[in-house]
Amino acid sequence: MNTSAKLELNDKTYSLPIVVGSEGERAVDVSGLRAETGHITLDDGYGNTGSCLSKITFIDGEKGILRYRGIAIEELAEHSTFIETAYLLIYGHLPNREELGRFSDLLTASQNLHEDMKYHFEGFPSSSHPMAILSAMINAASCFYPEVMNGANASDFALNAARLISQVRTIAAFSYRKSEGRPIIYPKNAYKYTANFLHMLFSDPYDDYVIKPEVVRALDLIFLLHADHEQNCSTATVRMVASSQANMYASCASGVCALWGPLHGGANQAVVEMLMAIHKSGDDGSKFITAAKDKTSGKKLMGFGHRVYKNYDPRAKIIKKACDEVLKTLHISDPLLDIAIKLEAAALKDSYFVERKLYPNVDFYSGIIMRAIGIPVEMFTVMFAIGRMPGWIANYKEILEDNKARIYRPRQIYVGPTLNAYIPLANRK
Ligand code: ACO
Repeated sequence: MNTSAKLELNDKTYSLPIVVGSEGERAVDVSGLRAETGHITLDDGYGNTGSCLSKITFIDGEKGILRYRGIAIEELAEHSTFIETAYLLIYGHLPNREELGRFSDLLTASQNLHEDMKYHFEGFPSSSHPMAILSAMINAASCFYPEVMNGANASDFALNAARLISQVRTIAAFSYRKSEGRPIIYPKNAYKYTANFLHMLFSDPYDDYVIKPEVVRALDLIFLLHADHEQNCSTATVRMVASSQANMYASCASGVCALWGPLHGGANQAVVEMLMAIHKSGDDGSKFITAAKDKTSGKKLMGFGHRVYKNYDPRAKIIKKACDEVLKTLHISDPLLDIAIKLEAAALKDSYFVERKLYPNVDFYSGIIMRAIGIPVEMFTVMFAIGRMPGWIANYKEILEDNKARIYRPRQIYVGPTLNAYIPLANRK
């Protein structure tokens, strides 16, 4: 295999080094291109651009492989928990018993919001989208914990990270309670991470929510499967903001904003809304499939397709199985699941989807599980954000610890007007 690529430009030949990743991925290193040739690369939407070297997550989209720190997602889904996986992503190895205990204790000790943060919730209209509240409150956390601004120190980092992982769940639960006009429920030390979240969402001051282990496991699995996914839109945003040396909370709040859109984390909400609309219209899904193939319809089969996976998203397989199990355990029969199964089967044999390699992604079935648990649709993307937090923090840490890190600053090819004279207001038509 070549160790460099040759570029011929204006009668000159340039040699560009080839960088090889630990899984054999190959990239042409163009970091010296502009200085040497006066040219830049143009890659609209970054589909061919490696923006960094990273040791966190490996994806092979053609083969449908996803690994966190080298461990297959299927193994983690079967044997690990969200919190253990969060440690793995952030600190680079599976924790031993003592490390896991310390991490878990730190999360519990950090779970209560600063009491004054509670007043912020009162300022939001009750109709606020919880993603807006989440990003605002994560950013506001740097006012209450100003030590986050000198995050390079290892013990400060550990505390800042634990606060963020723990409190994102508390903020999410408080924003839900606020939207329902119901009193805020404080976390309980006795509960583990995901059970505590369900308690804060669904308990009442006079009546504790009955925590079912199957429900805890299903939600924990959703968090785990979302915990990282290399340089997606929100993670790349976190790294972009972190590269300016903005603090961890500011960087991760920007990730929440990027995640919100329906083409990214908002897809889980969009999937269930699509399934509800199909159900309401009496369609069995076939009319919708026809519309999704028609570019003028403005419709897409939400939960299908992925920039990187050109095969079944491995997370979708795991979630589909979990979805069947949860619905069975809770004795729920959801017509939306039947529609989803029909849509999937129809799309997987339709030449439009086959030729474009469009398969179900992680969002296709996760919404059905969350619906079964009783989580409202507007909260779905918030669930994704809670899950993705360890991945964002791990990526933030890579930037923090890279002493050669430079501010991220892409270039552009300008295609606007050339030099133009200023016309005084009185002379304009
Ligand atoms: N329904 C119908 N057609 C689709 C879909 C879809 N869900 N996804 C892609 N296509 C079509 C495109 O229109 C395009 O068609 P063309 O070649 O005739 O122009 C072709 O498939 C290739 O798609 P791209 O737009 O190049 O795919 P891209 O990589 O830019 O986008 C994305 C990926 C955003 C995920 C897209 O597939 C999509 O919008 N899917 C639905 C939303 C969704 O489920 N998002 C969740 C992503 S996973 C995540 O963030 C967790």
